[in-house]
Amino acid sequence: MKYQFPENFVWGVATAAQQIEGGAFEDGRSASIWDVFARMPGAIKHGEVPDVCCDSYHRYETDIGLLKKLGVKSYRFSFSWSRIIPDGVGEVNPAGIAYYKNLIRGLKEAGIIPNATIYHWDLPYALQVRGGFGNRDMIKWYLHYAEVLFDNFGEDVDMWATFNEPIAVYVGHALGWFAPGIKDEAYARQCLHHLLVCHGEAVKLFRKKNFSNARIGIVVDVWKHYPARKGDPDDEWAALYNNEIAGYGMFLNPLFLGCYSDVHMKYMKENQIAPVIREGDMETICQKLDFYGLNFYNAIFDNVEEQERKKQEQAKAGGNYQDRPECHTEMLVDVLHMLVEKYKIQIPIYITENGLPVDGENKEELLNDQDRIDYVKSVLIPLHKAIEEGIDVRGYYLWSLMDNFEWSAGFDARYGIHYTDYETQERIPKKSAFWYVDVIRNNGFEEV
Ligand code: NOJ
Repeated sequence: MKYQFPENFVWGVATAAQQIEGGAFEDGRSASIWDVFARMPGAIKHGEVPDVCCDSYHRYETDIGLLKKLGVKSYRFSFSWSRIIPDGVGEVNPAGIAYYKNLIRGLKEAGIIPNATIYHWDLPYALQVRGGFGNRDMIKWYLHYAEVLFDNFGEDVDMWATFNEPIAVYVGHALGWFAPGIKDEAYARQCLHHLLVCHGEAVKLFRKKNFSNARIGIVVDVWKHYPARKGDPDDEWAALYNNEIAGYGMFLNPLFLGCYSDVHMKYMKENQIAPVIREGDMETICQKLDFYGLNFYNAIFDNVEEQERKKQEQAKAGGNYQDRPECHTEMLVDVLHMLVEKYKIQIPIYITENGLPVDGENKEELLNDQDRIDYVKSVLIPLHKAIEEGIDVRGYYLWSLMDNFEWSAGFDARYGIHYTDYETQERIPKKSAFWYVDVIRNNGFEEV
């Protein structure tokens, strides 16, 4: 069977500033919450810090070379707020601006479409000290940062995302597994509400700039939960809770339907964790967007008896439930239909992330990542089906260009299609990189 994708389908790879750049304290960059969190005992699996990572701050030209070799049409990356505005607000750092100017210029020269995220989890620590997302002033701070980016890079970045996976702010403020390491449900809910208002205000600001080509959207990951034992009240509740109260529903309802869902609101009120919502906030949050970015990795079948174990595993894995062999990637078709039918997302959709960490005893094994190829195919097949069924998916980004700093899992979880040698900073293509080159070249693949 041949899986041929639509003409002009955008094949890409993704990374994020904190995970690849390094140069953590160079040329005026200040500490982010992850630079600080990583230094807390026990926060990162083996206690590693993201000071150097893949050293992309110095090696971005090498990285553009890798992108060219892959033949990707687009590269998804993020800006580091701490590099652009080291104090979080106020003075702009020219070296930070220069770095991204060079990166974007290089991409353009190579004919690669820049897809940039404004905020991918790395708040300047200077703002955390002032209350971070818990402080409503965050809206002002974020807008200032977004405006600096729009004014410097506006039209050169074809696709802008206000936020990547806002759930990370929940994980970092309610569960404590991510930076800044806080465990306070009520506080977390307030932070998320502020984040959503930041998103809405930034979209409004973006519209005022009247860019001709640039588009704006948001990236929300969907790990859809289903009851493992259909009809079992505990499993049913677990799935509902994980979807609506502590999962994607927290974002998709306000972003696309203009309100928090009833079940979510009821739960927050009953547990006295509802955020303060000001007049006009919900209208601000629900802006018309140009695209929706879906980060899709897996679907989960909840069995409450296993719930506790799963939570522990998730913590260890760096916030990701990639606990194969329970692979339910076929549910992508259902997820995409849900986006369109339940959440009325009638704008182009991009799979902004998908990938798998693949382990190995040694370098040779790590380079021979057939598991990753099989997994990606298991996602591209349902994706192809959904497109045939009429869902408007315009592109797919593999996470990630190269092995990098996988948050709480440190350098242990290798998601790259290039192997990163952290000693020499050499990037070596894995089997999956060669395979992806062919997929891109053929705009699809054949499977017997
Ligand atoms: C989620 C995040 O956006 C990205 O930063 C992370 O590395 C991958 N998915 C894999 O967990």
